[in-house]
Amino acid sequence: MASDSPLKSNPPYSANILFLFLLLPTNLITLFLSSSFSPCALKPSTTTTADPATPTIGSNLPDVSTEDTSNLPAEFLAFASGQLLPFGYNANFDSNTIYPPVGQACTLFPDLLRRFMSYKVNGSCPDDEFLAQRLLLKGCEPLPRRRCRPASNANYLEPYPLPKSYWSTPSDNSVVWTAYKCKNYECLINRKKNHNGFDDCIDCFDLQGNEKNRWAKGKGVGLDFGVDEVLGFKKPGTIRIGLDIGGGVATFAVRMKERNITILTTSMNLNGPFNSFIASRGVVPLYLSISQRLPFFDNTLDIVHSMHVLSNWIPTTLLHFAMFDIYRVLRPGGLFWLDHFFCVGEQLEEVYGPLIESIGYKKLKWVVGKGDVPLGVAGEAIEELLVIN
Ligand SMILES: *[C@@H]1O[C@H](CO)[C@@H](O)[C@H](O)[C@H]1NC(C)=O
Ligand SMILES: *[C@@H]1O[C@H](CO)[C@@H](O)[C@H](O)[C@H]1NC(C)=O
Repeated sequence: MASDSPLKSNPPYSANILFLFLLLPTNLITLFLSSSFSPCALKPSTTTTADPATPTIGSNLPDVSTEDTSNLPAEFLAFASGQLLPFGYNANFDSNTIYPPVGQACTLFPDLLRRFMSYKVNGSCPDDEFLAQRLLLKGCEPLPRRRCRPASNANYLEPYPLPKSYWSTPSDNSVVWTAYKCKNYECLINRKKNHNGFDDCIDCFDLQGNEKNRWAKGKGVGLDFGVDEVLGFKKPGTIRIGLDIGGGVATFAVRMKERNITILTTSMNLNGPFNSFIASRGVVPLYLSISQRLPFFDNTLDIVHSMHVLSNWIPTTLLHFAMFDIYRVLRPGGLFWLDHFFCVGEQLEEVYGPLIESIGYKKLKWVVGKGDVPLGVAGEAIEELLVIN
């Protein structure tokens, strides 16, 4: 059911309109391609499982490297191989060739990659979110693009309008549930009570529970700052845009939106439809892991926040790069709110304190204490607020 494109089965009137929109750009692309390269590039119904040894990469290939690509899926090579620019050398690129980006580690997992890149071109993608996320988390990030339509819920319902959407549980029909243990939101809301084992953000989907008060009020002392307390460090209105890294169900972004501040929230879908849920609430989800370079230009964001994610489970070198990347995207005077960074005992003095201090942030407020540690993590929490110049 879910793996079938909703456009295929008896499309309702609105789907027909959508279909027209889809058709239009597709035709334009076909036209463009056929006037610039071989029209074979968009030939439908190439099933890529067929024969990986003879990839259908078309005639638009520059000289390829000597690397052995024979065990890589054809559709992967079609996407990721260098492709000649139709008008030749381009001074901006300083090249006549473009190499579409995929995670460096993609080819280390040829079996997963082959499964991910096996589909009918211009057909429905397999319903394979679990596989895709696993591949991504192993370092195949960004994933290669695919030429197929994602699985979607056949009975999809529109989200609630703003502002009702901020604090309402969305319809179960807004989600493709295949990848998750829970098959509806009620199960996710109740999983704290029923849980057996550790789940990321176990109580996050319950908007009437802990989420309801998170960051709403600071205690004034110690850990758990409130958003207004933090915003109070800057002139009103100067914190306008920002990022929440690993932001769960994006309650931080919702709270900021209620203050007219635009926050994008990165999240994975670890055993829950986090990205769908965030989008249903009416704020922007970014499907990015903590390994990925942040997709913002230098010195642009007013605030970066992160809670429970940047912690001692991350390899230290990766964390070091991540901290510098946050510094890079924050504008001068921007705020970095590192919210509940977990580590144990002397790690703070020996590793993380010096690491964080070495980046060059200026401390506005720094609190170390034992905080409410999430299930499955041992340690004390530190919470701090920093500013850069
Ligand atoms: C691609 O798929 C759509 C929808 O299934 C279909 O209508 C269209 O004809 C296909 N395009 C090509 C070029 O085969
Ligand atoms: C947000 O912006 C709207 C429209 O400009 C304004 O009416 C409202 O008062 C603002 N809310 C806050 C909390 O600043």
